[in-house]
Amino acid sequence: MSIAVTIKHLNKDFTVGDDKVRVLHNINAEIRMGELTMLVGPSGCGKTTLISIISGILSASSGTIDILNQRLNNLTDQQKVLFRREYIGFIFQQYNLLPALSAAENAAMPLIAAGMKNKEAAENARLILDKIGMKGQTDKLPRQLSGGQQQRVAIARALVHNPKLIVCDEPTAALDAKTGHAVMEIMRDIANNSNRAALIVTHDNRIYNYADRILEMGDGRIIGSYSAEEFITKEKT
Ligand SMILES: Nc1ncnc2c1ncn2[C@@H]1O[C@H](COP(=O)(O)OP(=O)(O)O)[C@@H](O)[C@H]1O
Ligand SMILES: [Mg+2]
Repeated sequence: MSIAVTIKHLNKDFTVGDDKVRVLHNINAEIRMGELTMLVGPSGCGKTTLISIISGILSASSGTIDILNQRLNNLTDQQKVLFRREYIGFIFQQYNLLPALSAAENAAMPLIAAGMKNKEAAENARLILDKIGMKGQTDKLPRQLSGGQQQRVAIARALVHNPKLIVCDEPTAALDAKTGHAVMEIMRDIANNSNRAALIVTHDNRIYNYADRILEMGDGRIIGSYSAEEFITKEKT
């Protein structure tokens, strides 16, 4: 099976006042194509920082990251934006929806950015929104939607351009169990296609069973790699 993401000796420091604080320590990891990988660990351990570096939103302090055979370190900021737009679907913890656009228009943004006509792009977005329980809601503005509905718009926006790598920060946090499972079914179907991969940050133990692999993080480090079954058993004992 081919590799979607390879991380080697990655460190990340933040500067806080006069101090340099290391928040990621010598991360080494592989994310395989065709798999749904979960990143699990307590609040503050560095999950969001790590997926932001993988997605090219933040830069590493040292170490290398290869995504889909592209060395991310070698790209300029502008090239990173273009790379991310084409190959990565990112679902932020805060949904970052544009308030003046409807649900369908928000979800259609990646297609419009890629040059598709507005109407066709919105039609594509509606198809995905319908699948995740948003039928009849697609013309509403973000402020007319509940938190869980806004999150679904953000999910649709990340999936609409069929990115090769989907990265999500706590996708089911604001969703009821039924919608959470519908979203995870979609993620798994997409990930288990040989040409795609998904990386999901979560601490929602209701969805661990959707993972092909679980990477456990603690205190800025990867401290274990498990199958879903192994991890669920470990958490119970
Ligand atoms: N921009 C920043 N500047 C300084 N410290 C930060 C910054 N972003 C995150 N941190 C710190 O890095 C650590 C990891 O944060 P984060 O990646 O958000 O953790 P998680 O997503 O696992 O909750 C935390 O201690 C957090 O306070
Ligand atoms: Mg976080």
